[in-house]
Amino acid sequence: MNMECNAIDLQDVTVTLLAGRRSIRRYEARPVPLDITTGLLEAAVCAPSAHNRQPWRFAVIEKFERKDKLARAMGVRLRADRMRDHDDAEAIEQDVARSRARIVEAPLCILVALTMEEMDRYPDSLRSEAEHTMAVQSTAMAMQNLLIAAHGFGLGASIMCAPLFCPEVIVSALDLPSHWQAQALVTVGYPAQQKMIRRRPLSDVALFLDRAP
Ligand SMILES: Cc1cc2nc3c(=O)[nH]c(=O)nc-3n(C[C@H](O)[C@H](O)[C@H](O)COP(=O)(O)O)c2cc1C
Repeated sequence: MNMECNAIDLQDVTVTLLAGRRSIRRYEARPVPLDITTGLLEAAVCAPSAHNRQPWRFAVIEKFERKDKLARAMGVRLRADRMRDHDDAEAIEQDVARSRARIVEAPLCILVALTMEEMDRYPDSLRSEAEHTMAVQSTAMAMQNLLIAAHGFGLGASIMCAPLFCPEVIVSALDLPSHWQAQALVTVGYPAQQKMIRRRPLSDVALFLDRAP
């Protein structure tokens, strides 16, 4: 934001981009133009990151065959995990089918990962875990930028956290570098649904320690 922005402009930006964004899970079939996809990633990498190491990584997936391969590999793992949990067989198959449909029916999927390759290294677990958390936080900020940018471009997008449960499956199915740690799959496309915002009141989540609003 530059110094010329006044409070009204800021409010407009906030309402349009932040309050207007929703997780959109159903899309029109039309593809996302490549320059818009690039714009999403340019927005993502504007995010702040710990030590400015930019640990985020992205894999852009558009072809049906690749989405299908990814979805099937994830489905095998999802089925096995839920069978181990002794869940109902029919419910498992519905879950697997729903997950696959979410992926293959999205015109654009962006796998968001992080790498620890350039993050600091420590001999103790406390600082190592804190450093990993910083990479996760940084990557999540990039993902939020991507979601906001998608909304700004008139696209809908949503996060699927399933890759977190099967990171090695993702690396193998997409042939990614082995140090990439999958964080989420963001599905993107032109919206085919509308959503309302549902949020707790600020009084539930914020403590004003020095002044009442
Ligand atoms: C870390 C994270 C993981 C999420 N994982 C999923 C997911 O696996 N599947 C899904 O449908 N939505 C997922 N979401 C989207 C949330 O369900 C959604 O943000 C929430 O319901 C609020 O709705 P809104 O984004 O439209 O405001 C995830 C969101 C975040 C931040």
